[in-house]
Amino acid sequence: MTASTTIPSEIERFNKLSATWWNHEGPMRPLHVVNNLRLGYVVEQVSRHFGREAARQPLSGLRMLDVGCGGGLLSEPLARQGAQVVGVDASPGNIAAARLHANQQGVAVDYRLGEPEAVLGTEERFDVVLALEVVEHVNDVPAFVHSVASRVAPGGLLFASTIDRTWKSFVFAIVGAEYVLRVLPRGTHQWRQFVRPGELAAAAGSTGLRQIQLRGMRYNPFRHTAAWCEDTRVNYIALYDTGGS
Ligand SMILES: C[S@@+](CC[C@H](N)C(=O)[O-])C[C@H]1O[C@@H](n2cnc3c(N)ncnc32)[C@H](O)[C@@H]1O
Repeated sequence: MTASTTIPSEIERFNKLSATWWNHEGPMRPLHVVNNLRLGYVVEQVSRHFGREAARQPLSGLRMLDVGCGGGLLSEPLARQGAQVVGVDASPGNIAAARLHANQQGVAVDYRLGEPEAVLGTEERFDVVLALEVVEHVNDVPAFVHSVASRVAPGGLLFASTIDRTWKSFVFAIVGAEYVLRVLPRGTHQWRQFVRPGELAAAAGSTGLRQIQLRGMRYNPFRHTAAWCEDTRVNYIALYDTGGS
């Protein structure tokens, strides 16, 4: 049996916010803002990788795992585009909110409550695995990423997004976002929990995955917009493949 990577206080904090997942103006606003950007990127990369560019439902038939899915901001639109999505989250409130919203919208997503290792079958593998904005909230990042990356099927992809542990992220993502501009509730992030791209790549590499892209994302807290940028010292997304296996 593998050790838990959950931080109980983090799950408790997310539970308290669970009713706010689909409120575009609430504490999850920054996730709603970045969602269009990252969704477009995921669909584009997956379509290209699996040769689905011309398809009307480019994700049709692909099995996708959304780890730390929260209220399902990404799981739902992926399922709408034809993917068979399994959404996993350790917070009961989040899974309840995700199920309720998907039911109301008539979207089929297989939401499971718990840590990935506990709720996925030993042999379950996925064409695409997503770990977006979750690794900075877990205990033992290498173990968590190893477990998530090992769920990628041969020939599949892993997307992981998080915040780099730099002086710049301390200034912008903690002081600026939580204390000055208050676009996120205080205590949302702990700087020490942020993850360097190299640490992520090493953990994913422990299962044989290789990083094929690294992109910076910038959030404008005044306009509440998001855009791609060269700078990966605050928010970034990394893409890995199985190296032709
Ligand atoms: C910041 S939210 C991100 C939600 C979603 N991925 C998104 O980007 O819209 C982080 C989520 O990870 C979940 N989480 C934290 N630790 C986890 C663990 N060990 N296993 C599964 N989910 C976890 C939390 O409950 C929370 O819903």
